[in-house]
Amino acid sequence: MKVLVIGGGGREHALVWALGRSPRVHTLRCAPGNAGTAAMAENVAISADDVDSLVDHAAAERYDLVVVGPEGPLVAGLADRLQDLHIPVFGPSAAASRMEGSKVFSKEFMARHRIPTAAFKVFRDEAEAREYLLAADTAYPLVVKADGLAAGKGVILADTPEQAAEAASGMLAGRDFGEAGRVVVVEEMLRGIEASFFVLADGDNVVELATCQDYKRALDGDQGLNTGGMGTYSPSAFLDEATRQTIVETVVNPTINGLQAEGCAYRGVLFIGVMLTDEGPKVLEYNCRFGDPETQVLLPRLDGDWFDLLMASATGNLNKVRLSWLDQAAVCVVMAAGGYPGSYGKGEKITGLEKAGAQDGVVVFHAGTSLDENGAVRTSGGRVLGVTALGDDLPDAREKAYAASAAITWSGEQHRTDIAADAAATLERTHES
Ligand code: AMP
Ligand code: GLY
Repeated sequence: MKVLVIGGGGREHALVWALGRSPRVHTLRCAPGNAGTAAMAENVAISADDVDSLVDHAAAERYDLVVVGPEGPLVAGLADRLQDLHIPVFGPSAAASRMEGSKVFSKEFMARHRIPTAAFKVFRDEAEAREYLLAADTAYPLVVKADGLAAGKGVILADTPEQAAEAASGMLAGRDFGEAGRVVVVEEMLRGIEASFFVLADGDNVVELATCQDYKRALDGDQGLNTGGMGTYSPSAFLDEATRQTIVETVVNPTINGLQAEGCAYRGVLFIGVMLTDEGPKVLEYNCRFGDPETQVLLPRLDGDWFDLLMASATGNLNKVRLSWLDQAAVCVVMAAGGYPGSYGKGEKITGLEKAGAQDGVVVFHAGTSLDENGAVRTSGGRVLGVTALGDDLPDAREKAYAASAAITWSGEQHRTDIAADAAATLERTHES
């Protein structure tokens, strides 16, 4: 089988790594890929946002399967265009991708289908938004969100009316996020533990993936700015069987059935960000793609053929595949460029990759890397590497991931030192009680 993966981050390196392990895949390419994918697939120099060129390339090459990593090309209709060409594609249609591409669409969808989520209001007019946000009887804190895609930056947690009004003005006036901010959702701030929940769907059937946890803040102790994710571990210490069941019944099933009933059946992976509140799980957001770095801990734990699963999702055959997971735990520590998530430098030479990758149970996934003219690996993004380790349990996987990351360095490198530390402590308490 001839497979193309679209994207160039850590998630895509993990997808390429897992697809490359399938005996059925004989040709594997990644567009545009990074230094990590170059070592196990052929990189194709087309940007993930260049939908026209991707369609032309896929049509000329007649891939057996195209796997779309990021949300941008999905929201722009890449899956629809490949389907029109009868090229099997893993990833939802533009209509179904609105679950991520438009917060207003997803919030109104949840309201229609009675799916638990934060209470919300939609604003299209700056003066109206400001009047509401500055009114004496509006309760704080609140969350202000740009409707459209904003590269993970369109969510402002506001403690005061002034902060909220300023955020809403910047969005509605088109200053901050362009067209993506011309409509704004204002919602109640939820409290609890946040969890990432993934299901694969094929339009009809749904299968749950293993559970995992993401660490979004830049610094230890959940301090600092929000990032794309500074580390992950799997399985989650917080999503017990009963909670998972509740999420499937109150969120997953009504979502997949609701989309089908509304004429946009969901194919691909649906990533549901959930807040585990005192009143039960509530949806924070939907994403129409895999998480990054969640993928880096899910795929090493898969006990089976990743190509078969993605192909089954693309072709409506998920009822025919069985999914199982290793008993082992996985931890991923993200190593980032100094300054991330603010501005950061590029082009630093990375050392120690081979030594780290040779350690027991370790895979070093590349995110923001490129090869220089001498074949040396250099930094080229904010999140640079995702050092993942499998272990007998979370503390073991955590120790291995940190031991491997200690072998790698470059000028300005930064990472959190507490990934999965709370999980290890939580599990210890659970075992004692
Ligand atoms: P979103 O893109 O909607 O997931 O928002 C990004 C992050 O902002 C989430 O992962 C949460 O950490 C936080 N967030 C979003 N909405 C809320 C909310 N209603 N209450 C509390 N935190 C939120
Ligand atoms: N790690 C969170 C995301 O991929 O959106």
